[in-house]
This record gives sequence, C-alpha cells and structure tokens, in this order.
Amino acid sequence: MKKIVAIFLLFSAVLSGCYYDNYKELYPSASLANGCDTVSAVTYNKQVASVMNGYCVGCHSSSISNGNVALDSYSGTMSAAASGQLMGSLLAQSGNPQMPPNAPLDACSIREVQLWIQNNYAQ
Ligand code: HEC
Repeated sequence: MKKIVAIFLLFSAVLSGCYYDNYKELYPSASLANGCDTVSAVTYNKQVASVMNGYCVGCHSSSISNGNVALDSYSGTMSAAASGQLMGSLLAQSGNPQMPPNAPLDACSIREVQLWIQNNYAQ
C-alpha cells in the first residue's frame, strides 16, 4: 500500500511539472508580454514576420540570400516553408543545417512558425 501511495505522489509531481511547462499556453497575456503569441491564430503579419526579421533576415533577404533563401517577404518565407526547409532548419532535421547557425530559436518562436504552416500560411 505504501508503495502505491509513493508511486501516486511521484506521478502527481511529474504531472504538476507539466503544468508549469505549459505556462505560456495557459496564460496568453504572459506569452504576449514576451513577444510570443501561440494562442491567437498565427499569421505572417502578426507573428512570423517579426521572427524572421529578428533572427533570419540579416542573412536571408533579397540582397543577401544565403542558401538561396530570402526570408524578408511573405512569398519568400512561404516558399521556404512549403519546401520543408524552414521547419527543417529551425529543428536541424531532415538534412537541413541548424538555423540560426549559432543556436536554435526559443521553443515558442519555433512553435509560432509551425502553427503558421498549419494555418495554411495565413497572411
Ligand atoms: C549568420 C547568418 C545566418 C543566419 C542568422 C541565418 N542563416 Fe540560414 N543560412 C545561412 C547560410 C550561410 C546558409 C547556407 C549554407 C548552409 O546551408 O549551411 C543558410 C541556409 C538556410 C536554409 C537552407 C537550408 C538548406 O536545407 O539548404 C534555410 C531554410 C535557412 N537558412 C533558414 C534560416 C532561418 C529560418 C533563419 C532564422 C531563424 C536563418 N536561416 C538564420 C546563414 C544564416
């Protein structure tokens, strides 16, 4: 019986840990204050453009398009997303190099890009 109680307590501890992991999703205002919004419908103009401008456009624009990828416009970002290279590089998966090259983006920004793709590249 004691063992069952101990296991139950352990699971409660693990589950309450998840509660804090989801903090940003549970408290949208907190994620907005952080400049990251995965709660309202994700569009290019509301979220994705600022992620690209903040972390990618310095190396990926119409004038400096490393890897032939320009992320300073809706159409350029959409074609990188549609080819699978955008998520591939953000997650360093499927043979794509890690982007940005020095360190991955924060999880919330990556999630914004993922939700934008699921939202059919809403403008
Ligand atoms: C410091 C410069 C730099 C930054 C910042 C940067 N990139 Fe890149 N990126 C490169 C270079 C250089 C290449 C081409 C060489 C290579 O493939 O490693 C590249 C290639 C790519 C490619 C093509 C990958 C492939 O499979 O060939 C994608 C997609 C990409 N970057 C997306 C991004 C995104 C999204 C960001 C922002 C989150 C970003 N990059 C930020 C320098 C950068």
